[in-house]
Amino acid sequence: MTAPIRENLSGLDLRAEIERLRKERNAVILAHYYQKPEIQDLADFVGDSLELSRKAAETDADVIAFCGVKFMAETAKILSPEKIVVLPDMDAGCSLEDSCPPEQFKRFREAHPDHIALTYINCSAAVKALSDIIVTSSSAETIISQIPESQKIIFGPDRHLGGYLNRKFGRDMLLWPGVCIVHEAFSETELLKLKAQHPGAPVAAHPECPPHIVDHADYVGSTSGILQFAKSFPGDTLIVATEPHIIHQMELALPEKNFIGAPGADGNCNCNICPYMALNTMEKLYLALRDLKPRIEMDEDLRLAARKSLDRMLEMASGTVGKGDLGKR
Ligand code: 13P
Ligand code: SF4
Repeated sequence: MTAPIRENLSGLDLRAEIERLRKERNAVILAHYYQKPEIQDLADFVGDSLELSRKAAETDADVIAFCGVKFMAETAKILSPEKIVVLPDMDAGCSLEDSCPPEQFKRFREAHPDHIALTYINCSAAVKALSDIIVTSSSAETIISQIPESQKIIFGPDRHLGGYLNRKFGRDMLLWPGVCIVHEAFSETELLKLKAQHPGAPVAAHPECPPHIVDHADYVGSTSGILQFAKSFPGDTLIVATEPHIIHQMELALPEKNFIGAPGADGNCNCNICPYMALNTMEKLYLALRDLKPRIEMDEDLRLAARKSLDRMLEMASGTVGKGDLGKR
């Protein structure tokens, strides 16, 4: 459980304090598209998992303040071990990571010795260390197309992304049964009602959505891919089937267009807001920069083992500029 903030920070101008600390610490603030708008607005860089990994690997800052979830901050530490990496709330996890305990994943691998492990970046460092190649949703297509068709593959932990790739590439990867609780919550019935209310409006979906949502999508891709699609589709209304905080970037870029978040089960719930991403707040970001904690620490052997599969991704994904390579179905 996250410890409550015990200090009274109400008199502070948090934005100004974060600005001051960013300079004093020589820190870079990286934020995922699912962060609250006030955090996206002050970040040095906002991006998808692949872009954020690349930024973390190339920055010359001393401190990385990672506004995202733990597996993303761990990735930054794996790629930039000499830097201090802070995560505003260490409880910012991910249901996909939780679904894949390393001991069980190890047994799964051992049961299929002739398969390589192609693993979604939404997993722990220990699972990365047990994997051959990491993928993100924007690098998955580029990477899978470089693996010979005869090569057997296990794919974890997201069975929806894995299933989507199997269908699109005619592969037969064995799937780990994890899901993202956020993308799982979209309702097909409510989506169809929304489409009927906005005839002609395209649907852009993240591949973590189940097939009954992806099947109605005009575009399927990573967060950065969805953003690119939003910037280029010809109409005036877009239905967005991913975590709704990404709509902030769409509204900044195209204020004249209408972006509507796809609904959850009762048509009007907050169940598509990622509860882990939402744990990061301005207060916690300020404290993380001030106190340089909570900090990501990692055993060096584990880091080096996890780095191999991440480096493999970065090599194989070169040229993939977070541009939503999954593309249309
Ligand atoms: P992206 O790599 O598309 O940003 O996805 C990250 C994520 O956690 C989606 O739920
Ligand atoms: Fe994990 Fe889903 Fe949240 Fe992404 S949206 S961090 S996959 S729980």
